[in-house]
Amino acid sequence: MAQTLKVNGKDVTVEAEPGTPLLWVLREKLGLLGTKFGCGQGMCGACTVHINGAAVRSCLMPLAAVSGEVTTIEGLSSDNSHPVQRAWIEADAPQCGYCQSGQVMACAAMLKAKAQPTDADISAAMTNLCRCGTYGRIRKAVKLAIE
Ligand code: FES
Repeated sequence: MAQTLKVNGKDVTVEAEPGTPLLWVLREKLGLLGTKFGCGQGMCGACTVHINGAAVRSCLMPLAAVSGEVTTIEGLSSDNSHPVQRAWIEADAPQCGYCQSGQVMACAAMLKAKAQPTDADISAAMTNLCRCGTYGRIRKAVKLAIE
């Protein structure tokens, strides 16, 4: 089945089964490798992208259910100039880095929805897992992004 999507501001037509997770469409059909596969079960958040600005775990989103504009880490900015990316760099948040594009996307969606989140809002929105345990630096980066 061919389906047209808007991804990072461009219309793209992909050929895939309707049930194919958006994650694999992004990675395998469109070559957008910044979105990562972790658990494939909606638990880890490594696959987080935005649909119409909201954080979505793309491993659980069938292609046929995608409606609206998809933004991946590649579409957040072309030169790491998005305020969340700048904060991540300043806080030196990543260790291995594998989960960080999902972390950044979760943070960017949270701040788009609420520019001045409370600590409780941050805890509720930032549920992505990091096996290196960089949660302290991630929280510092989130705070820098809020400033
Ligand atoms: Fe999607 Fe883990 S790969 S939540």
